[in-house]
Amino acid sequence: MAANSNPMQTASATPAPDAAAVTLPSAPDFDAWASERATRVRVLLDAALPQRERLEQAMHYAAALGGKRVRPLLVWAVGDAVDAQPQALDAAACAVELVHAYSLVHDDLPCMDDDVLRRGQPTAHVRFGEALALLAGDALQTRAFEVLTADAAVPAAVQARLCALLARAAGADGMAGGQAVDLQATGRTLDIDALGAMHRRKTGALLKASVLMGLACAPQRGDDCAAALGAYADAIGLAFQVVDDLLDVSADSATLGKTAGKDARQGKSTFVSLLGADAALQLAQRLRDDALGALDALPPAVRARSARLAELARRIVSRSH
Ligand code: IPE
Ligand code: IPE
Ligand code: MG
Ligand code: MG
Ligand code: MG
Repeated sequence: MAANSNPMQTASATPAPDAAAVTLPSAPDFDAWASERATRVRVLLDAALPQRERLEQAMHYAAALGGKRVRPLLVWAVGDAVDAQPQALDAAACAVELVHAYSLVHDDLPCMDDDVLRRGQPTAHVRFGEALALLAGDALQTRAFEVLTADAAVPAAVQARLCALLARAAGADGMAGGQAVDLQATGRTLDIDALGAMHRRKTGALLKASVLMGLACAPQRGDDCAAALGAYADAIGLAFQVVDDLLDVSADSATLGKTAGKDARQGKSTFVSLLGADAALQLAQRLRDDALGALDALPPAVRARSARLAELARRIVSRSH
């Protein structure tokens, strides 16, 4: 996908109206904002990922090209709502996308999902070989923490908080732990609670970290937004993977830029396999409404600036890829 194309295009031109949304301000400039921010994340990734050696070329290939950039968009959307420090937001947005890119490289490896297509291109291990892809994932992850600690304009306490949030979300309690559960659950049927817990870790944790990192870039805010933004993040975090699982059965590989239909072929535990597509979609829509309801509980001055967060919640559910 071109860096300046709309990264969060909806399946339909106009998102379906919903009751919870009408009380929140609308975001008429969302598409222009999202495109401009996608360009910004590409600039930040290019700067963070020089391409002198082959390992570095693999890192750049995996992180810089394509992707919807949902996690950086969340960082910036929260940051705008809470009036956060721009330099801290740039570092947080870039770092969370680096960790996400690493998670995709490893997710695609033959020992995990064994995928050959990612973001419309051959996966990193297909292009660069398995060993370099493994190392590129490792080095993308550590580069994220270099990025978080590189800018002296960002207060040390903010840097430390951002590192802690990202490390926890990426590790055994979050993404990596959820990926391990995903592999153990392959070929077995999880009950709905276990499935939700797995999704919250493998995908929800990094999305929640994106929201909380945006908030952490505004240390002057205190705690008055934490509960509402945490509830918003929990809801969109789970919804995101439910929709990913739905798209795996309903979209084609060209649209997705990754191999469609592979969850069923690989015997993955998903909400679609457990509940069926209709109930999974209803769940995603309910979670979207929960997220919008959570924004309603923000302090008025922040809530008035939360339109992009509301739009992101809608598009996470209505997206086509
Ligand atoms: C795909 O994430 C993997 C999941 C966590 C479900 P995205 O759908 O955000 O992938 P990109 O970044 O847009 O390629
Ligand atoms: C991956 O979930 C979640 C990650 C932590 C990367 P999936 O395995 O469903 O992601 P895709 O469908 O390959 O992007
Ligand atoms: Mg996977
Ligand atoms: Mg996968
Ligand atoms: Mg998937």
